[in-house]
Amino acid sequence: MLERALNSVASWGLDRVGRGSVDYVVSNTMTEFNRRVLPFVWTYDLKALVEQVIDEATDVKTFVLRPNQHWPGMKAGQHLEVLLKEGDQVHHRCYSPSAKPHGRLAITVKRKAGGVVSQWLHSTVRAGQVLTLGKPRGHFTLGDPRVQRKVLMLAAGSGITPIASMVAQCLSMPEGERPDLKVMAQFRLPGDVIFRADMLDWAARGVPVTLALSRSQGGQATEGLPTVDRLDAAQILRECPDVAQRHVYLCGPDGFMRKVVQALMELGVPARHIHSERFEMAAAVHPPGDEVGMVDLDGAEVVFEHINAAITLKASDQGKTLLQLANEHGLHLEQGCGKGACGTCKLTVHEGQAHGNVLGSSVYLCTSFPASRTLVLGA
Ligand SMILES: Cc1cc2nc3c(=O)[nH]c(=O)nc-3n(C[C@H](O)[C@H](O)[C@H](O)COP(=O)(O)OP(=O)(O)OC[C@H]3O[C@@H](n4cnc5c(N)ncnc54)[C@H](O)[C@@H]3O)c2cc1C
Ligand code: FES
Repeated sequence: MLERALNSVASWGLDRVGRGSVDYVVSNTMTEFNRRVLPFVWTYDLKALVEQVIDEATDVKTFVLRPNQHWPGMKAGQHLEVLLKEGDQVHHRCYSPSAKPHGRLAITVKRKAGGVVSQWLHSTVRAGQVLTLGKPRGHFTLGDPRVQRKVLMLAAGSGITPIASMVAQCLSMPEGERPDLKVMAQFRLPGDVIFRADMLDWAARGVPVTLALSRSQGGQATEGLPTVDRLDAAQILRECPDVAQRHVYLCGPDGFMRKVVQALMELGVPARHIHSERFEMAAAVHPPGDEVGMVDLDGAEVVFEHINAAITLKASDQGKTLLQLANEHGLHLEQGCGKGACGTCKLTVHEGQAHGNVLGSSVYLCTSFPASRTLVLGA
């Protein structure tokens, strides 16, 4: 009760006097007592006060968060980690927040049966509680709209969360500068549809939005939006005849992503134009073997364009992941889980080939291996 009242005062302070002033006061009064009484602001960690919990759809809740003074800001499409401490163990799970007015952000979480963190968020976390977060990370962000003039956003289920942030970013651009945008979002049943108010708003503001229902018949308007059946190559082409000229931003479960990436490539979308974020870990990956992906690495080169660095490999580098190779050469790249789950290490292939945890042009460095004599990667 007391903590709730103090959290509200801290939140009021953050709104009224600003993060900088709160940070100044807090860092000069960081005592063990203050840390215990008001851990929301008297902390060196990024924390967020849960201000509201909204039931969105079957097994989906949105948590509106008020981050503390350590919030560094984020780019639309990035993700952050929610940390759950259980005894000695800390569980880290990624969520893609959307920005809300007045410095708030929201994470929309689908409950996963038997899942540790999503279950805890759904069943335990209430308004007034404080969450510990990791800093926003990841490269699933919009490219330069002067280069990417035409964009298709494709999402399935809770994969709409980063897509919604990027659509909002596009709509905040002056009209002449924003890309020509289309959105397709797939859910299983009408009751699973989330972000419906956002999608109606995008449509009202001139962005064509198509809803796809994978377990129910499309062909008529649902939620006031044109509705089709499960997204496959034919359906995508019908709804978006110029898909081959578009940059595609894609997010959803692994199975959906693999099928859609294949469909997009069949439709002539260059792998370089497919930008993806996956919410689930890929199946186990293995280093290149004799039959697949094996090249002579002696003298081979991997270029990391986004940091202007290149490394030259040796024959003994066979079997090492791209992240391992970068680390061994002293390059400090963004990295998270190290096992292909969080997507923090993901880069885009600009030239050459990688083997392993690769989706379209996206390469998860921690679980992928070089598969050509020259491999050029970038953000
Ligand atoms: C970039 C990204 C953004 C995401 N955004 C959203 C979102 O906006 N909304 C949403 O509902 N879901 C999102 N997810 C999925 C989310 O992170 C969780 O995987 C999901 O909520 C299930 O977690 P759980 O603890 O309930 O399930 P569990 O079954 O307990 O977790 C699944 C298994 O995957 C592994 N795992 C998952 N994440 C990590 C990690 N970060 N580090 C190490 N291992 C991991 C663990 O081995 C775990 O056992 C996102 C995932 C990623 C990678
Ligand atoms: S996917 Fe998490 S660090 Fe590579």
